Amino acid sequence: MTDRITILDKKFSVYIQAEQIQERVKQIAAELNESHSGKTPLFLAILNGSFIFASDLLKNITLGCEISFVKLASYIGTSSTGKITTMIGLSESLKGKDIIIIEDIIDTGRTMKNLLGILYDHSPLSITIVTLLFKKEALIENIIPDHVGFIVPDKFLVGYELDYNGMGRNLENIFVLDEK
Ligand code: IMP
Ligand code: MG
Repeated sequence: MTDRITILDKKFSVYIQAEQIQERVKQIAAELNESHSGKTPLFLAILNGSFIFASDLLKNITLGCEISFVKLASYIGTSSTGKITTMIGLSESLKGKDIIIIEDIIDTGRTMKNLLGILYDHSPLSITIVTLLFKKEALIENIIPDHVGFIVPDKFLVGYELDYNGMGRNLENIFVLDEK
């Protein structure tokens, strides 16, 4: 397996191996099976970023559940703009439901804050935040994720669905941008 890769104009080195990711994803699924025991949650996977994580996670969920994919747009290049225009793809009613958000990464927290604002307008019973990665040092908004895969430094990452200008989502490891 390659430990160093080039995507477009940038070089990256492996940061979290696929096996570690898979192990952690199974642990998070076990936590959710426990915390939501007896409930029928609605998983909301946030596209594009969380399709691989959502797929791996949901294969290990034993609860009866609904799954929906929604899309937000907030990021261009290597810095977060924090701009959300809209949420598309929601066909289910959220009223009275236990929502579990599946997100790839929380950086400044702006995306999640905006998303929570939209979701609370739909009167769910509860909202649980699951994120694979959490850039704790970069957090600006007051967001506390309930389940975190890995706390990561404030560095640019690609792979396992994280992209650099649209590229790299299909890599099975997570890579970090090399320091100059
Ligand atoms: P936030 O609104 O600043 O929390 O940013 C969240 C979004 O920024 C994520 O859903 C990602 O799409 C994107 N993002 C943040 N950090 C990275 C990174 O290191 N690599 C790729 N995308 C990132
Ligand atoms: Mg995202």
